[in-house]
Amino acid sequence: MKGNLIIRNARVVTPIGQEAVKGKKMGELQELPGVTIAIKEGRILYIGDGMGCPEIPDAEHIDAEGKVALPGFVDSHTHLIFGGFRPDEFEWRLKGDTYMSIMERGGGIQSTVNATKDASEDELVKKAQWFLDRMGEMGVTTVEVKSGYGLDFETELKMLKVIARLKEEEKTVIDIVSTFLGAHAVPPEYKGKTSEFVDLLIEMLPEFKEYAKFCDVFCEKNVFEIEDSRRLLQAAREQGFKLKLHADEIVTLGGGELSAELKAVSADHLLHVSDEGIKKMAQEGVVATLLPLTAFALKEPYAPARKFIEAGCAVALATDLNPGSCFSGSIPLTIALACIYMNMTIEETITALTLNGAAALDMADEIGSIEVGKRGDIVLLGSDNYRVLPYYVGMNCVQATIFNGNLVASNP
Ligand code: NIG
Ligand code: FE
Repeated sequence: MKGNLIIRNARVVTPIGQEAVKGKKMGELQELPGVTIAIKEGRILYIGDGMGCPEIPDAEHIDAEGKVALPGFVDSHTHLIFGGFRPDEFEWRLKGDTYMSIMERGGGIQSTVNATKDASEDELVKKAQWFLDRMGEMGVTTVEVKSGYGLDFETELKMLKVIARLKEEEKTVIDIVSTFLGAHAVPPEYKGKTSEFVDLLIEMLPEFKEYAKFCDVFCEKNVFEIEDSRRLLQAAREQGFKLKLHADEIVTLGGGELSAELKAVSADHLLHVSDEGIKKMAQEGVVATLLPLTAFALKEPYAPARKFIEAGCAVALATDLNPGSCFSGSIPLTIALACIYMNMTIEETITALTLNGAAALDMADEIGSIEVGKRGDIVLLGSDNYRVLPYYVGMNCVQATIFNGNLVASNP
């Protein structure tokens, strides 16, 4: 539903533009106190003083009382549809096990694949809806959701249908962008035959085109290495998918370089990206989507955010919410970790979670900033100072979330 809404007396804090903000410019935000924002049929129609605000019949009214209005947050990387949970693996890792050794023993992603095969569509919808509601409370208005816990035609299709249902039928109050991640792990029946499994995924692509905007791959040593990733992504591009990669997450493999070669929209994780990878991504305008919650939960070094920014790259931040490597969708903790451990400035984290998150979904002309013509997706903080964002370590300072001109979540 597209809402009519007038927000008075807001302190608008926003990046500006229709495309990714690169390098040092990420720190440049526009800040306007005492502003009225008018949203008509879900679109921002007016930003200015109260006097000039057009009449909008039937509009709802909100008095922001001088508090900060940010663009709705864009979480551009999640795996929030899955069967089961994996707390046992988390405990094994606490005792010294590693993410990859658990995966190589047949646990990890494969264990969620088994549970997802067993789950009904309705169960998956209900579970995902809970996460989506929590994300709305934290100010997220657009979320990307991946398949990838099926690894066969039937279950991948089930996941993609669940995403479509959440988006269209289930009255979900935030927007969802869908990604096909059939290349998430090599299933046991294809062990040692990765390239045959890639052939199978390539055959599936045309069937899934109507369900997914992006195609993604877990480009990693002993999973889908460079040649298999390249072959799948090239085929996906020919079918009209936009491209993403899980790149250089566990070891330095050249995923960053591959994302540049293929002109992917984004490469994600990048904990172990090479300097050459950073340079090439900057040259080709690939968005570097960094996921600090995953580094935190895996006890890995954080991605080199400053190097990306110095190189002139656009950096986005996202949560990676999934049942294995990172069972957290916390936007507040993402912001705190990015500022404390990745040395991003508060302004850069705001750009990374709004306009650059939108760019990572190829939607920067539609969402990601508070500008006339963009969708009316706005977060109101419970403060008149946006700098409180990382100070609230892991605690939510969002007071209200507005999606498409409708108030969809509010916190006391
Ligand atoms: O982004 N590494 C690949 N995919 C996810 C983890 C998925 C899982 O462990 O279930 C990630 O870290
Ligand atoms: Fe991921």
